[in-house]
Parts: sequence; structure tokens; C-alpha cells
Amino acid sequence: MITVLEDMRDSVRDEGIHRAGEILKKGGLVAFPTETVYGLGADALDAGASAKIYQAKGRPSDNPLIVHIADWEAIEKITKERPWQARRLSEAFWPGPLTMILKKSDAVPYATTGGLDTVAVRMPDNPIALALIRAGGGYIAAPSANTSGRPSPTTAQHVAEDLDGEIDMIIDGGPVSIGLESTIVDLTEETPTILRPGFISQEMLQEVIGSVEMDRGLIAADSSVRPKAPGMKYRHYAPRAPLFIVEGERQKVQEKINTLTSAEHEKGRTPGVIATDETSGSYTHALVESIGSRADERSIAQHLYAILREFDRLEVSVIYSESFETPQMGPAIMNRLMKAAGHQVIHV
Ligand code: TXA
Ligand code: MG
Repeated sequence: MITVLEDMRDSVRDEGIHRAGEILKKGGLVAFPTETVYGLGADALDAGASAKIYQAKGRPSDNPLIVHIADWEAIEKITKERPWQARRLSEAFWPGPLTMILKKSDAVPYATTGGLDTVAVRMPDNPIALALIRAGGGYIAAPSANTSGRPSPTTAQHVAEDLDGEIDMIIDGGPVSIGLESTIVDLTEETPTILRPGFISQEMLQEVIGSVEMDRGLIAADSSVRPKAPGMKYRHYAPRAPLFIVEGERQKVQEKINTLTSAEHEKGRTPGVIATDETSGSYTHALVESIGSRADERSIAQHLYAILREFDRLEVSVIYSESFETPQMGPAIMNRLMKAAGHQVIHV
């Protein structure tokens, strides 16, 4: 079921991508690597093909898909207008982990945009993805290739866990490099607005196009303000066990987590702890997973989803996590972790 194309000879790779492109052109589903997470691809301009994505993922039909392109020129066919910010951001960050929301043209079916008059567009930074988009007709709708609600897949094996048997092909390009989904910026508003934080931070966007806001629905997570990206309102990335984020001064966090894990242990249950390389030795009475080093925020982003899946496999009773307010990707990491935790935070 999984076709391995990582480190393959050119001829093998070309053959695999050609086969995958033919599947896409016929309206089928192919999972493929990007630099952020694995995507589940279908022809974005074919309403029937997009509909199959929703079915395979069990995804609510009002949650729009991102259209992936491989060349800047491809954007014209699927958008009504391209504000100057779109060109500048594409020059600065494409191919890369940035998705732009623009007004859609008639070429994009409502099945792809969840009924919206806007379309999300991204050019991923991964050679297999770019070759596949071209082979598949140039416009590939791709949400993360997980069952709706589960952590996004960062390896082909994660995709297979969720979708084996449901889709036509899985291309294995090895583990992804970033590990969190792209930053989404809405360019249909007067002031460009971040609808989902990612590797490209607010500051990085502002350096290129000036003022950029954060969607109020993102900041005020437990208020009545609805996030503008329909997908951001759902509970996501949820591990099976309840997850709590423990926030505060480092020493106090460790003490609190150890108190909680020993209480759990006394009841005969096995809790899990999400720690860092710097702290993983200081926890007791728990299965401890290090997410990476605090000195290397990329490692934290890369391992978050795999750890949530690993704790499902280990069948822990509850998970306690440190919090990770890192400089560039902190907002993105904490946005995903908070959603996985259903916003359950313990302050110490
Ligand atoms: O990194 C990524 O963006 C990955 C890889 C595969 O490219 N894709 C991804 O897609 O994360 P998905 O479907 O898991 O998340 C898409 C998000 C959802 O929250 C959705 O609501 C939002 O983008 N979105 C898509 N089109 C939109 C639109 N027209 N207006 C507002 N939000 C939109
Ligand atoms: Mg997703």
C-alpha cells in the first residue's frame, strides 16, 4: 500500500509519481509528503474527487480544503484577484509553509472550498509534492492525511494507521521537516489576518507586507468569538487520554506534574508526561516522552504529533505536558497543544 520514494533512483521516483498523477487525474486519492505534514490529495477542480477526501477523513463538509499549486502562474486560474501582498508573500515564502486565502474564481468548485467564495492556496516546499502536483494536473486539494480529529501525520506510517484501505496510494517520502501545518493568512480582509499560526510567524509576515493581525477567534480561545478558518473551531489532534498542560515556573511545573503522576500511579494507572531533553530525567511514576530540546524549537514542532500518537499506542490513562512558549513557533506549537488538550490548563 505504501510506495517508498525517499532516496530512490530517479527512474523509480519518476515512475511512482507518474502513477500517482494518473490516479489523481482519474479522481482518486493519493497521500503525499509536504514539508509541514502529510497531505491527502485529490484534484481540486473536480468536485467529485474533493468529496472523496471528506468521506475518507470523516471530515465535516463545511471545512474547506487548501489547494496546492507548483508554480506562481497557476494562481490566476483559481483566484479572482491577487492583491499586491500575495505576490510579495509568494516571493518571500513560496515554496514554503504559508497558505493564502483569496477570492476564488469559478474554476474552483464549492465542494473544495466548503461552500465559501474564498480559496486557500499554498505551494509546498517538498520535491515529491511539487512533482506530484504537476503530474496530477496542477491543482491538488490536500488536507492533512489523518482521520478527522486525530493528530496530523508526520510520517507515511501515521497515514497508513488512519487511512489504509480508504485511499488509492500513499507515497512515503520519509519524516516531514516542520511537523506543524502551514501558517494561514487571509488576504481578503482590509488588514491581512492570521487564521492559523505556523512556522511563518506574525513578525516574519509583517517584515514583508507591514501590518498583519491575529484572528481574534484564535487569541480568545474560550470566548464566543468564532475563528475565521472553519477548521479551527473543531477539537483537533486529540489523543485518546485526557491531556493537561501544566504552566508556570519550571521547578514548580516539575513538582506539580510529579505530584499528579504519583497520585495516578497509586490508583494503579499509568500516566504519560510530555517533557523536554532538559527535564525528562526529573519525572517519576510515568511514561516520559521527550518532545525535543528547548534550545531547538524545530525539534519540538517536529515531534508533537508523533508523541500524541505514541501515547495512544501506550494506552496511558492521562497525559501531563509542559508548555512550550518558544520564540518563532511558540504560538503555533501552543495552538496545537491547547487544541489537543481541549484547553485544559493547570497553572502553578
Ligand atoms: O500545512 C498544511 O497546510 C497542510 C499540508 C497538507 O499542506 N494542510 C492542512 O490542511 O493543514 P487542513 O485541511 O488540515 O487544514 C486547512 C485549514 C482548515 O482549518 C480550514 O478551515 C482552513 O484551512 N481553510 C481552508 N480554506 C479556507 C478558506 N477559504 N477560508 C478560511 N479558512 C480556510
Ligand atoms: Mg488538518
